[in-house]
Amino acid sequence: MSRPMSGSVYGAASRTRTARPDAAPDTVPWAASDPYAAALRTGRGPLFLRRTDGWLLPLDVERWCERADAVDLEVLDRCEGAVLDVGCGPGRLVAELSARGRAVLGIDVSEAAVARTVRLGGPSLRRSVFDPLPGEGRWDTVLLMDGNVGIGGDPRALLSRVAALLAPGGLLIAETAEADVDERAQVQVVDVTAARAAGSPFPWARLGTPALLRHADRTGWRTTAQWTSGGRRFVALRSARSRAEPPNSTAVISSQRVAKPSADSPATDR
Ligand SMILES: C[S@@+](CC[C@H](N)C(=O)[O-])C[C@H]1O[C@@H](n2cnc3c(N)ncnc32)[C@H](O)[C@@H]1O
Repeated sequence: MSRPMSGSVYGAASRTRTARPDAAPDTVPWAASDPYAAALRTGRGPLFLRRTDGWLLPLDVERWCERADAVDLEVLDRCEGAVLDVGCGPGRLVAELSARGRAVLGIDVSEAAVARTVRLGGPSLRRSVFDPLPGEGRWDTVLLMDGNVGIGGDPRALLSRVAALLAPGGLLIAETAEADVDERAQVQVVDVTAARAAGSPFPWARLGTPALLRHADRTGWRTTAQWTSGGRRFVALRSARSRAEPPNSTAVISSQRVAKPSADSPATDR
């Protein structure tokens, strides 16, 4: 069903990154973060995003390393068609969708995250969301879970990028912060209890539901649902790109097969 990451896939990922000096602000230091890789290896924190003023945002590594829970399953039940999980981390959602026989791909900049996702049986590529990706303009659902609306530190750039990844009218399901915040900051991944060095600083954003809806409204998205479950908050948005606009097919990577080759799905691009 899925195949492990190969050396050539890693090679392609790093080539595409260096070939795009104009790419949107990125969070590649997540990829080089020793504390994050170590936490994913053990399945345990404590791990934080630390702002330059010292404020700490706890990262729920233990939950991410477990199986999808009831709240996650509600989200997955809302997914449509082929699903792209952006910043899939250790892969609980990709693995669950894959076990259900759904067309799914996880992408993450962290080698440890991708390796763990693949071990769980989830198709996954080591790639930034701002790199060229398989199936651009053809995904039915994109997931931005566990605070991943913060990727890149520029919510509107990320929303535009996701709109380009989705098929016309495609669905974005995003998890928002519990607090009503709209914040951009430089952060580092840190394990405050270990002597391990923190990763390098990178831009990150934190958005509550009102802020995400504001940004979405200004970038042409339609809100289709908002809900709270198990203390977590979610928003479902539909891309307003019309079917008349062709997908950005130039960025589709043609040499990789990342999921089942049966369906006419972006997860089967090769
Ligand atoms: C807040 S964690 C979310 C974890 C994840 N959703 C899970 O289920 O475990 C953010 C994740 O996004 C990844 N990430 C950061 N920047 C990224 C980027 N530009 N493109 C893709 N993934 C990225 C990180 O490596 C990390 O795994």
